[in-house]
Amino acid sequence: MLQILNTLQEQVLTKLPAISTQEELVVYKNSIFGKNGELTEILKGVKDLSIEEKQTIGKATNDMKNSLAAAFDIRSQAIDAAEVEERLASEYTDVTFPIADTGIGHLHPLTQVIRQVEDSFTRMGFEIRESMEVTNEYKNFDAVNIPKSHPARDMQDTFWLEGIGNVLATHTSSMQNEIYKTHDLPIRVVIPGRVFRNEDVDATHENTFYQVEAIVVDKGISFANMKYTIRTMLSDIAGKEVKIRLRPSYYPFVEPGADVDFSCPFCDGTGCRICKGTGWIEFMGCGMIHPNVLREGGIDPMVYSGFAFGFGLNRLAMIKYGINDMRYFQNPNVAFLRQF
Ligand code: DAH
Repeated sequence: MLQILNTLQEQVLTKLPAISTQEELVVYKNSIFGKNGELTEILKGVKDLSIEEKQTIGKATNDMKNSLAAAFDIRSQAIDAAEVEERLASEYTDVTFPIADTGIGHLHPLTQVIRQVEDSFTRMGFEIRESMEVTNEYKNFDAVNIPKSHPARDMQDTFWLEGIGNVLATHTSSMQNEIYKTHDLPIRVVIPGRVFRNEDVDATHENTFYQVEAIVVDKGISFANMKYTIRTMLSDIAGKEVKIRLRPSYYPFVEPGADVDFSCPFCDGTGCRICKGTGWIEFMGCGMIHPNVLREGGIDPMVYSGFAFGFGLNRLAMIKYGINDMRYFQNPNVAFLRQF
C-alpha cells in the first residue's frame, strides 16, 4: 500500500507545477481527494489491514495525505500570486501620463462677475448674504415703501404665486426688510441674487436675471460714504480708476435717490462704441435709505442712517465682456460660454 501511495505522491508532485488555473486545480484535487478520488480509493483499503499494520501504515498514509493537501495549497497560492502579477503587468496604468484635453469647463461668465463683485465688497468689510428667490408681497413691496396703490408697483412686472401673497423676488431690495430686522447694527451687507420679472424677452430684457443689492446702516452714514463705496467697487470691477456721476432719480425706498453713471473704462471717457460716444455708462440706482424703510425694519431713522444701491449683474457682465444679447446667459450654448 505504501508503495502505491508513494507512486501517487510522485505523480501528483510532477503534475502540480503544470497546473496554472484555480479551475484546473480544483478538478485535479477532486480526482485525488474527492469521493471517488485516487487517494480516497487507496485509503479505503486501510480498514482491511491488521491492527499492527493500521498503526504503522495508517500513520504513514495520514502523513502522506496531509503533505499532498499542503502541496495543493501551496500550488493554489502560487496560482493566485501569478494572477496578481499578470494583472499588474497587463492592467498597469501610468498615472503620470499626460491626459488628452478633456475639455474641463470653467465658471459661467455671470458667476465670474458675481465673484469679482463679492471680492470687492469683502475687501471693504461687507458680508455676503444670498437673496431669496421666493419672497412675499410685503417684503418685495410694502416693506420697501411701495404701498399697494403706488404706481411704482407697475415699474416691475411681477410673477405672482398662487395663494398666500407670495411672489418671485422682482429685485434684491426685497431682502432689505429681513436684514434690518435680523441683523445687529451696524449693517454692511451685500446681497447677490436671482430675480424675476414678467417681461417680454429681448436683447436687453430677461424674465430671469441677477442683481446685487448693497446696504449700509450705522450712525452718521452719509451720501459721501455711498459715493466712495460705489466708486471703489466700480473701479475694482473695471480694473482701473473710474469716475462716477450721480443724476437725481426716483426709487421709493430711498430719499434722496440717484442713478449712477461711471466713466467708460474702454475709452476713458473720450467716447466709443460701448458708451455710445458719451464717455459714460449708465449703470445703477442708489440713495439714502428712506426713513419709512428703516422704521419698517425696526431701526430708528432719528438715530441711524444708511444707504442702499442695486444693479444688474447681467448688464455688468455684458459691459465687461462685450456681450450684446442678454438671452445668451440663460442659453446653455457651449460655443458662447467657451469664450469667457
Ligand atoms: N431695486 C431697484 C431695481 O430693481 C434697484 C435699486 C435702486 C436698488 C436704488 C437700490 C436703490 O437699493 O437704492 O430696479
